[in-house]
Amino acid sequence: MPENLLKGKLGIITGALDENSIAWKAALKAHEQGAKFVLTNAPIAMRMGAIKELAEHCNTIIIPADATSLEDIEKLYAESKEYLGGNFDFLLHSIGMSPNIRKGRSYGDLNYDWVNKSYDVSAISFHKMMHIAEKMDIMNEWGSILGLSYIAAQRVYPFYTDMADAKALLESIARGYGYRYGKLKKVRVNTISQSPTKTTAGTGIGGFDAFYNFAESMSPLGNASAEACADYIITMFSDLTRYVTMQNLFHDGGYSTTGISEELMEQFRDL
Ligand SMILES: NC(=O)c1ccc[n+]([C@@H]2O[C@H](COP(=O)([O-])OP(=O)(O)OC[C@H]3O[C@@H](n4cnc5c(N)ncnc54)[C@H](O)[C@@H]3O)[C@@H](O)[C@H]2O)c1
Repeated sequence: MPENLLKGKLGIITGALDENSIAWKAALKAHEQGAKFVLTNAPIAMRMGAIKELAEHCNTIIIPADATSLEDIEKLYAESKEYLGGNFDFLLHSIGMSPNIRKGRSYGDLNYDWVNKSYDVSAISFHKMMHIAEKMDIMNEWGSILGLSYIAAQRVYPFYTDMADAKALLESIARGYGYRYGKLKKVRVNTISQSPTKTTAGTGIGGFDAFYNFAESMSPLGNASAEACADYIITMFSDLTRYVTMQNLFHDGGYSTTGISEELMEQFRDL
């Protein structure tokens, strides 16, 4: 494993709820690779989560912020800059939530107030984080901004309901802001489209076990774990990927390009 890939780099990591969270693993690796960062999560999540332990391990602080609130984001950036002693080299948006999924509403029976909430939390907050970063001119040149997506943005997964649309919006925002931030400040913006992963957000989706197992048997390399995703995140924050921008990057063991696997064919052979 290379060392100190993020030495001297400063940033913000959102979305570490518990040790299963993708952001939790990313924080551990970023710390291991020499980065300094502030952890943040929605104020309500802080009471439930074990994030304090993570902060102690990473020798950092936690600043609560609701990612849908412009004021919270502004305060988060201002206080983080003061604590870290400089502008940021990376931002991780690892946030997703759909009240419709939580309440088991089907795609034909969505509550539209909740749809707005899903979009705001899971996608528009990504735009808001970049908007405030631009307004405060808080990103360093050649910085890297990442969101986390899922292939339901491109293909239909019936139980993913309004989160599928939120992910399509998230990926579109990565392209739109990636262009803008590239021109403005040479900052790159991408999304990583991750395999199904056993986290709070992941397992909250109806039928999760079925599509986790399906993806496992479709992917020549098997499902990518949260830890492997964290490795990819570190690579994308490092200086080794400076010219990758405005991309949705599949991190899925080959799932997205496989038509059918031999294992699955076997299951259908004698029907
Ligand atoms: N788990 C999967 O199968 C999977 C697959 C592909 C992509 N993703 C994406 O990865 C990202 C991280 O999710 P995870 O799987 O690690 O689950 P997770 O539940 O551990 O993380 C989701 C985080 O979003 C935070 N959050 C919710 N509302 C917020 C708000 N208003 N402001 C700030 N934070 C808020 C939660 O507190 C939590 O920490 C999400 O975008 C998710 O959609 C997950």
